[in-house]
Amino acid sequence: MSLVDDFGRVHRDLRISLTDKCSLRCTYCMPAEGVPWLERDGILTTDEIERVARVCVGLGVTEIRLTGGEPLIRRDVVDVVARLAALGRHVSMTTNGIRLAELAAPLRDAGLARVNVSIDTLDRDRFARLTRRDRLPEVLAGIDAALAAGFEPLKLNAVAMRGVNDDELVDLVEFAVGIGAQMRFIEQMPLDAGHTWDRGAMVPADEILRRLRHRFELTPVGGRGSSPADTWLVDGGPGSVGVIASVTAPFCAACDRIRVTADGHVRNCLFAREESDLVPVLRGGGSDDDLAAIVTGSVAAKKAGHGIGSPGFVQPDRPMSAIGG
Ligand code: 5AD
Ligand code: SF4
Repeated sequence: MSLVDDFGRVHRDLRISLTDKCSLRCTYCMPAEGVPWLERDGILTTDEIERVARVCVGLGVTEIRLTGGEPLIRRDVVDVVARLAALGRHVSMTTNGIRLAELAAPLRDAGLARVNVSIDTLDRDRFARLTRRDRLPEVLAGIDAALAAGFEPLKLNAVAMRGVNDDELVDLVEFAVGIGAQMRFIEQMPLDAGHTWDRGAMVPADEILRRLRHRFELTPVGGRGSSPADTWLVDGGPGSVGVIASVTAPFCAACDRIRVTADGHVRNCLFAREESDLVPVLRGGGSDDDLAAIVTGSVAAKKAGHGIGSPGFVQPDRPMSAIGG
């Protein structure tokens, strides 16, 4: 069995959001206050997550990435990782790094293969403004702990934003190269809770590269496969930098991702307007085949691309924090 859509894309990457809650309030993702949280009973239990993941592995999934909100907020996150790792597939996580200082080693022991840490700035005041929480030191401690626990390659993600951190791109690369991590810059996508995204605030990939080239010699590393990042060696290597041109050069044609939200809805795209709810089957005595049928149906209905910039584009109702990265 495999998850193939009408465009021949074979889906192997399952992203599971463990919670929609977060320890930060990044302006491009969440409002300052009044976040409409998902209902507590609607959040999938660990048994349910494991069951959904097992069904997806049966459908050909080889990579499971845990996201949020912030996945480390979930109390039993180490247990979730252990149970998913026992399915024998590659399990990774995207985190904001808070609580990673305590959890990196236990997560590694539980079988987590890789972590990506989001860090948009190295300046404490700027971090506090951007995330509305003064917690940069915890993130930096988390990054140290991830390296000490042996997570490799460690990738650091930053959303590049005009007038916010676009003067720091070189510093972020130097920081990452200095600790043996890979910095990756992401174009800002229209996924904020306030629906205030505008193209002018986004720093396009070609501008990111131009800024980096003032300082570094960048040589392309070919063959990105289904990875969304184009990668360059920094000053001949071994350090490298990635750029994810989600808006100006979408990787939709090679997308192999499906997503499950914390409340058990399958989404075939970050920007999907429709979702398929697994909960009635999970809690109504349905079979694994019923779950598989929902996932297969969602993949079959996947559109060719996100269409940001096309006249009919409508931002999804859920913010990024409730979809998962
Ligand atoms: N555009 C691009 N990336 C985003 N992320 C969150 N919101 C957006 C957005 N609007 C990123 C975070 C993190 C990952 C979970 O997704 O910075 O790296
Ligand atoms: Fe939290 Fe990530 Fe959203 Fe920032 S981008 S508020 S860290 S979920």
